[in-house]
Amino acid sequence: MRLEGKTAIVTGAGQGIGQAIALTLAKEGANVIVADVDIKTASETATRIKSMGHRAEAVKVDVSDAQDVSQMVEKALSAFNKIDILVNNAGIDLSNTPPENAKVDEFDKTIAVNLRGTFLCSQAVGRQMLKHKSGKIINIASTAGHRGFRGKAAYCASKAGVLGLTRVCAIEWAKHGINVNAVCPGTTRTALVAKLPINLDDRVKRTPSGKLNQPQDIANTVLFLASSESDNMVGAEVVVDGGVSALFWPNGE
Ligand code: NAI
Repeated sequence: MRLEGKTAIVTGAGQGIGQAIALTLAKEGANVIVADVDIKTASETATRIKSMGHRAEAVKVDVSDAQDVSQMVEKALSAFNKIDILVNNAGIDLSNTPPENAKVDEFDKTIAVNLRGTFLCSQAVGRQMLKHKSGKIINIASTAGHRGFRGKAAYCASKAGVLGLTRVCAIEWAKHGINVNAVCPGTTRTALVAKLPINLDDRVKRTPSGKLNQPQDIANTVLFLASSESDNMVGAEVVVDGGVSALFWPNGE
């Protein structure tokens, strides 16, 4: 029960990585605000947490909308009084098109959810954490923030932006007791990748560990960054990708 008495907001917690994070933080004793643009899946995650004997509230939020984000923070405070942990996990990946053909509205939407959303939530929750001089903010970036993926100008730019934002919030707020860090997952088995035109068996073969992430692999890393065990980690980027980023050539050699 490493998070006993703490309150966490997890965005995009209706499914996939966010859901695994919400369940994992709850199992360690945290009260969880299950925030998602899809209130149905958010409510299902909250119900699962409550059935395990822990406290959770589902909140509908579009993280790219400043008013929604402000209401999410008000709901979290009225339910649990204080916010100790924020996990900026909500994200989308819309495009598989070379930059010359990429649609501007898809580019804008991706930046709005992945980068602006992370900024808005960090700002709104960061202001609360600054009042009580403690907190943990964990941004779910991606190895796409370090490298170029064909067809993914907006996604890669948004995740590189999240890493830049992580560093600035981290150095600004470290002296106020707030740790801001990022997790960079490689391919993780969720609905987001299931709909991409990629060969997952081929990715497994190219991955040094011989396996792709499960959402729980990312949740375990987030738990560490949310706990006091990581109290002197500031602006770190924790890569969880089975060794893909450690390769010299990406064909798996
Ligand atoms: P997913 O598509 O399974 O789940 C994303 C969740 O975010 C959904 O519940 C969705 O309703 C919610 N969401 C989408 N737009 C939202 C908005 N505007 N406001 C609030 N919630 C919103 O995706 P997955 O795979 O679980 O990804 C979670 C995060 O991990 C994303 O930031 C993604 O970029 C990142 N990631 C995923 C990887 C993967 O291979 N699955 C690899 C690297 C990073």
